[in-house]
Amino acid sequence: MNAHLPSRKVIAVLTAALLATGMAACGNSDTGGDTGGDKGGDGKITLGFSQVGAESGWRTANTTSIKDAAAAAGIDLKFDDAQQKQENQIKAIRNFIQQKVDVIAFSPVVESGWDTVLKEARDAKIPVILTDRAVDSADKSLYKTFLGSDFVKEGRLAGEWLVEQEKAAAGPVNIVELQGTTGSAPANDRKKGFAEAIATNPNLKIIASQSGDFTRAGGKQVMEQFLKANPKIDVLFAHNDDMGLGALEAITAAGKVPGKDITIITVDAVKDGMQALADGKFNFIAECSPLLGPQLMELVKKVHNGEEVPARIETQETTFTQEQAKEALPNRKY
Ligand code: AHR
Repeated sequence: MNAHLPSRKVIAVLTAALLATGMAACGNSDTGGDTGGDKGGDGKITLGFSQVGAESGWRTANTTSIKDAAAAAGIDLKFDDAQQKQENQIKAIRNFIQQKVDVIAFSPVVESGWDTVLKEARDAKIPVILTDRAVDSADKSLYKTFLGSDFVKEGRLAGEWLVEQEKAAAGPVNIVELQGTTGSAPANDRKKGFAEAIATNPNLKIIASQSGDFTRAGGKQVMEQFLKANPKIDVLFAHNDDMGLGALEAITAAGKVPGKDITIITVDAVKDGMQALADGKFNFIAECSPLLGPQLMELVKKVHNGEEVPARIETQETTFTQEQAKEALPNRKY
């Protein structure tokens, strides 16, 4: 044997290590198939999907919707959980490009910083679909379409309800705001829509606004700080149900009655949020639907076939008062 050449055993160990590194590169992925791009020759479309994380009840319902819809549509789904980190999403997208998947879809954690990786996908001729959240790229040719809610409208609907409730208020109404993940489209847009709506009544004042990262733990912790720093809080606007649910614990612990001493407005309308609304602990919810899976799979098939798709597809949503929540709750799917 030539002393400079590695033995077969060494080659086998190195190959196994390389394969393991490649598989680990994508973090929490659930590849669910072969190497992609119909490389298995089974005729199936391969979709690489990078999810934000598992930060809320909404996100869990969204992941279930996507996985179920992919299975129903016969699409080979490579699923990656980015754990709320943009760098993980960029890594996952690069991994999908390397695997030559047919289509890439993702829900961007934050709005900015996507151009480079999206150009890499375009150079590789892999169409990209944005779901749930938008990016702020000026070059719209970097993605085929954006499927999701109008977050500005959700914030506006929440604000308009409050304006109506407080139209007879004689003095200042102190509002605290629990923002979603800093830099994310829903946090930016819900803040904007809400602020625009309440600007019509000068009595309505946001006295504190901070991120709770869309989680229950974040909502609880930030609400505790709000309560310590502000003796008079009349209203809480939480950018999602989970932060509102976390805040309930802080409000109760501070000896106040949620829904009565403090009016609570949230966004999402997941089951736990709807239960809190029906129980009188929340006062109003603007809906944000996570059930994007079936529409996404239709779009995946179309872009894969080279068909034209609309640049923007907006999710249909509603709002709920306490009475409406009581009615809707028994049939709520998520
Ligand atoms: O992008 C949608 C938002 O993300 C939901 O409102 C929130 O619950 C989630 O984490």
